[in-house]
Amino acid sequence: MNEQAINGTKDKKNPPRHFLDLKGFSRQTLRNILDLSADLKKRLANGERPPILKDKMLAMIFERESTRTRVSFDVGMRQLGGQTMMLTGREMQLSREETIADTARVLSRYVDAIIIRILSHEDLLELAGTAGVPVINGLTQLSHPCQVLADIQTFEEHRGPIEEASVTWVGDANNVLASWVHATAIFGNRLNIACPEEYAPSGKMLNDIAAAGDRISLGTDPREACRNSDLVITDTWVSMGDKDASERRRILSPYRVDQSLMELASADALFMHCLPAHRGDEVTEEVMDGPQSVVFDEAENRMHVQKAILAHVFGIERLS
Ligand code: CP
Ligand code: NVA
Repeated sequence: MNEQAINGTKDKKNPPRHFLDLKGFSRQTLRNILDLSADLKKRLANGERPPILKDKMLAMIFERESTRTRVSFDVGMRQLGGQTMMLTGREMQLSREETIADTARVLSRYVDAIIIRILSHEDLLELAGTAGVPVINGLTQLSHPCQVLADIQTFEEHRGPIEEASVTWVGDANNVLASWVHATAIFGNRLNIACPEEYAPSGKMLNDIAAAGDRISLGTDPREACRNSDLVITDTWVSMGDKDASERRRILSPYRVDQSLMELASADALFMHCLPAHRGDEVTEEVMDGPQSVVFDEAENRMHVQKAILAHVFGIERLS
């Protein structure tokens, strides 16, 4: 599917520009967003807050917990001159069975864009398919595209083009990995995945991995996957919506990222985690707080890259 089919509403004359998944975007479009993010970051450091979204209102629907996504979108939107409104399903009529489609139609009459965190990816697509304004995916159980664009910006700030990097994912095959699979298909980096069989990629993610050809390797051995890697990434063993927490901890315990695993990677390999982290579970304190860790740069870049995503959905590709 192309950019429009995945990230736009198909059957309208002037479809809103959604940001639902990295999959479907061209490398050039994502490069434009990354360039704008770097520009916005530099300007902010110089005290500049270009008001390119002056008077725009962003509705922020959070069906699940969030620290980074919630605060970074809120602050980022305000820095661009816009305004935000925080909503949860529980306080809207969504909790009394108003449909997501009707909610989208109504909100589109009031606000200029919507960012939503909702576990059901189908609900995200339904919202986007009915909304008359841009919709941004702030995490579903199937993907987390804003996170992975911020990760790429972070890698490139420290080590240069992602295209040339060997990236390793260790642990659960979750939403963040799915967006890394999408990014790999677009940017052409290597992606080495090590997951236990019980929590290995399945369904759409497995198809996407197969479609990426030999740039993505899939196995169960974290040591093998980390060898000579430029970037080691992990995430929580228990994502929002997962029910089997103690079973997951037991099965995923050989996938903890510790110093001995990092030592198999390149000498200057980076460590990333989208946060929130659980020191002692998926990553040791030594790695999480060690010199290779760039987790707080990732968190910061969420804000810069999301400002660029907001600009993109409003049709702004660069600053004048
Ligand atoms: N990484 C991330 O999305 O964090 P939050 O859940 O705090 O938003
Ligand atoms: N995989 C995690 C990411 C949290 C930002 C989750 O879905 O809970």
